[in-house]
Amino acid sequence: MRSSKLRWLLFVVPITLILIVVRFPYMVDVPVWNFLGRERIDPATLHLQGEFVESNLGSAEQPDGSVLVRMIAQQYVFVPQCVVVPVDVLVRVRLVSADAAHALTVAGTSYAVKVVPGSVTEREFRFAQAGEYAMPCHEFCGTAHAAMWAHIKVVAPDAFYRLMASNTGGRCD
Ligand code: CUA
Repeated sequence: MRSSKLRWLLFVVPITLILIVVRFPYMVDVPVWNFLGRERIDPATLHLQGEFVESNLGSAEQPDGSVLVRMIAQQYVFVPQCVVVPVDVLVRVRLVSADAAHALTVAGTSYAVKVVPGSVTEREFRFAQAGEYAMPCHEFCGTAHAAMWAHIKVVAPDAFYRLMASNTGGRCD
C-alpha cells in the first residue's frame, strides 16, 4: 500500500513540475519566444520619442495606398480610443504596450494583435464591409481588463480621405 502511494507521488510530483515549467512561457497565451527577435521598443519612453509619440498615433495614409494605424495599449485604454480606416484597403496595425500584455481584437472577425511591453506587433487587416467595430482587449491585463475597449470605424475611401485632410490620425474620439 505504502509503496504504491510512494510510486504515485514519484510520478505525480515530477509531472506537475514539468507541466508548470512547460506552461510558464505560455502565460501570454502564445509562447514568450514568439516575441523574441521582434522589433524592440522601450515601453518607458513611448510617448516621449520615436514612432509612437502622441502626434503620430492613429491612421496614416501610406505611399503604397495602404493605411498604417499606430496604437498604444496601456492599462486600461487603447490610444487612440477610436480610429477611422477605409473599407477594402490594406490596413497595417502597429501596436505597442506601455505596461502589461494586452491583445487588441476586432469583434466579429478573427483579427487579433497581441503585445507585450518592449516589442512592436504588426498585423494586417482588411475590412470588406463598412461599419463600426468594437475592439476589446482579449488578454487579461489587470483589474479593469474587461473595461478596456477601442473602436474602429470603417468608412468609404472617399469619406476616409476627406476626413484625413482635416483630421490627422483619423481619430473619432
Ligand atoms: Cu488590456 Cu486586457
